[in-house]
Amino acid sequence: MNIAQLAEKAFQEASKITSGRTAIYIPELAKVNGELFSMSICDLEGEVFSCGDSEARFTLQSISKVAVYLLALENFSEEEIDIKVGVEPTGDVFDSIIKLDEYQRPFNPMINAGAIAITDLLITKFGDQALEMSLEYFAKLFGCEELKINEAVFTSEMQTASRNRALGHLLKGFELLDNPVEEVLKLYFKHCSIEVNTESLSRFGATLARKGISENGERLISAVNLRRLMSVMLSCGMYNYAGQWIYEVGLPAKSGVSGGILTVAPENFGIAVYSPRINQDGCSERGAYLLKKLVHELKLHVYDYR
Ligand code: DON
Repeated sequence: MNIAQLAEKAFQEASKITSGRTAIYIPELAKVNGELFSMSICDLEGEVFSCGDSEARFTLQSISKVAVYLLALENFSEEEIDIKVGVEPTGDVFDSIIKLDEYQRPFNPMINAGAIAITDLLITKFGDQALEMSLEYFAKLFGCEELKINEAVFTSEMQTASRNRALGHLLKGFELLDNPVEEVLKLYFKHCSIEVNTESLSRFGATLARKGISENGERLISAVNLRRLMSVMLSCGMYNYAGQWIYEVGLPAKSGVSGGILTVAPENFGIAVYSPRINQDGCSERGAYLLKKLVHELKLHVYDYR
């Protein structure tokens, strides 16, 4: 069987998985059709193979943390980033109430506390232009003309953000935010509410798989920043599920509570899946099942020596 046939077979098998439920703590996400299911695989040449509801649009949610971290890495020195956030997994859930490391900073940029601290840096640097700068850079990463915000999801998050608000105030209390909490949260939620489909998300994965070079040859990420990002995605991208993920899938990945998962097979493919029913770790149940199957079939696990 060729790659497309193997992928199609894994997709059909995964479509039987019905466990998990749409994210209930964000009303706009709770009402999404739980049966939606899509997958896209983008190769290094930019060829995309898709299955299922590949037109279905969903918000990035925590997958945005990958792009936000990259924008910060590309615009600040290593020292400036190191003051704000570490590279150590927490073993905790994504919205865990603050736990700082020995240097008094959030453990990593993939958990909410770390992403909020990084978002603050972007406001300090770009001021009113911060969202515009993000959207412009992210569109390049995603290989698309422009990216749009789902305003209904943004509003829904802003209205139900008690936990993130608490995190923001704690970070401010530890002098880890230079800007007003509400301003930082607003940008954090705008990033979470950026809309994609699996095709554009897989193109982002392919940019990472291509070592930070866009489809038309532009370097978007320096080698040193890519090494940092991929390492952090591998060890922290799946939160308290990260160890199991490395064991079972063995590739850097990032989940989002909308049900999207981004996975990178370095020098091979960007893979995106979407299925909105998530588990208690905030990860798509069907999507995770599919990725495990697919990676096994295509022998993409970094330590698969079969
Ligand atoms: O911070 C939040 O609550 C969400 N907007 C993003 C969380 C998320 O996607 C966690 N990942 N699985």
